[in-house]
Amino acid sequence: MTNTETAAQMAPATRTPSPRTYLMCRPEHFTVSYKINPWMEPTKPTNTARALAQWQTLYDTYIGLGHTVELVDPVAGLPDMVYSANGGFVIDNIAYGASFTFPERQAEGPAYMDWFGAHGFDVRVPENVNEGEGDFLLVGDTILAGTGFRSESRSHSEVAALFGRDVVTLTLTNPNFYHLDTAIAVLDPLTGDDTANIAYLPSAFDAKSLAILRDRYPDAIIVGEQDASILGLNSISDGYNVVIASRATGFERQLRERGYNPIGVDLSELLLGGGGVKCCTLELRR
Ligand code: ARG
Repeated sequence: MTNTETAAQMAPATRTPSPRTYLMCRPEHFTVSYKINPWMEPTKPTNTARALAQWQTLYDTYIGLGHTVELVDPVAGLPDMVYSANGGFVIDNIAYGASFTFPERQAEGPAYMDWFGAHGFDVRVPENVNEGEGDFLLVGDTILAGTGFRSESRSHSEVAALFGRDVVTLTLTNPNFYHLDTAIAVLDPLTGDDTANIAYLPSAFDAKSLAILRDRYPDAIIVGEQDASILGLNSISDGYNVVIASRATGFERQLRERGYNPIGVDLSELLLGGGGVKCCTLELRR
């Protein structure tokens, strides 16, 4: 019997949604003109109108769930700016800025920091390379921090000192899952001590990181390779409603068994850039 089956047999807890505030960026300039992850294929055509329509559905879904969505203006020449999760990491009104790995995205760091500054956040210019909430996930009072492809482990110490929280370093090993938010979904961001609080793809991590995840979250949802392979884990939960890729049907069933309400959206066009639901969403914690 797997962990998943054991947990599924436990009576699903009552799940309580709570309203959130997100930052998004309309994909007006979306295209794939360079390749910085295995998903991106610059020779393959993209359809910006379709990207906009799919993105709008995600936006409308959040509004329909009672969340607040703020918008940062897209910048011409920064096609990946739609992936706002990478624009920073925001807790307690402090916005830790991003410093991107690849030159193609570097100008996004200041663009997002300007927005944070103009909207009342205490902006902290980063000293180390990091890609914001792509690699930093808040679970209760703990920050799960990814490294291996993008964010440097030195940024993990920087974040620990800045936010005064425990930071757990996790090393990613599969280039298809290059950001932590492609390999882990946080199911209830407000509950730290829940051993079932995350869903993840074991094969995305090195042995040491996997041991840490198994120890901390013995009752986590283990997603299948197929769901993960369309970035099914790249999802947003408010504690009850979990917005996921509509094609992640196995994950959808697992979430239902645990008492969550999965809501599928199709972001197939944005998947061409290597991003999904979570990548297009940055949580603003004021
Ligand atoms: N093309 C972008 C990149 O490779 C996609 C970013 C996806 N964002 C995320 N939070 N996983 O940087």
